[in-house]
Amino acid sequence: MDPGELLIRDLAASDRAALAFIFSRLGEQSRYQRFLAVKRRLDPAELDRLSTPDHWHHGALIAFSPVPRAPIGVARYVRTGDFELAELAVSVVDEWQRRGVGEALMLALRDRALRAGIRRFSATLYRSNRGALALVRRLGPCSVTGSHGDVIELSGSWLRKGLDGEGTMREHRDTVRAAPGAGQSSAAVTAWG
Ligand SMILES: CC(C)(COP(=O)(O)OP(=O)(O)OC[C@H]1O[C@@H](n2cnc3c(N)ncnc32)[C@H](O)[C@@H]1OP(=O)(O)O)[C@@H](O)C(=O)NCCC(=O)NCCS
Repeated sequence: MDPGELLIRDLAASDRAALAFIFSRLGEQSRYQRFLAVKRRLDPAELDRLSTPDHWHHGALIAFSPVPRAPIGVARYVRTGDFELAELAVSVVDEWQRRGVGEALMLALRDRALRAGIRRFSATLYRSNRGALALVRRLGPCSVTGSHGDVIELSGSWLRKGLDGEGTMREHRDTVRAAPGAGQSSAAVTAWG
């Protein structure tokens, strides 16, 4: 595999340590934005729940940096009481933000969700979270359907580009602006141990 490529695949129970690693590389603000609260640690029960998606009602994908691989992001959907509607969540470690990882994860997740019969999505975000707002809006037409103080709920329908998950992923991997020259990405990964 070209070392310049991300690896995005289904999250497995064996990724428990990788999930903890990703959480440890989220800065305070990123954690706050993801969990909508001050979040210092993931307790074992949360890690269990987050690392055991059934890939039907609860789908999750994990992204790894170009080689040498390190876990750098995770995206998930959880089906709600409405069979066709799922709640989305995504996190990318601080050092890899703004390089297209979030977008690649979300577009791949959209393909998984479509295959599971999910036609609509919602996301709960701080209204100041410009990155997440931009990302969710790229998934398809959406609007604000709820608001509570600084927190809003965005709901929408996927912009369908076909169900070819693999093709879509490859296409979006190519857009990853990490554009890591091998040296640059190795340095970043090594720095995380
Ligand atoms: C939101 C988050 C997942 C985005 O991931 P990312 O890998 O940085 O996003 P991408 O690089 O794929 O960016 C996609 C688009 O989002 C927008 N964007 C991303 N981060 C942004 C920021 N900080 N400010 C403004 N726009 C931003 C940009 O429009 C970008 O496209 P562009 O580079 O062509 O302009 C990441 O910032 C994160 O993990 N944040 C903390 C957790 C969180 O907020 N999760 C969402 C709530 S569940």
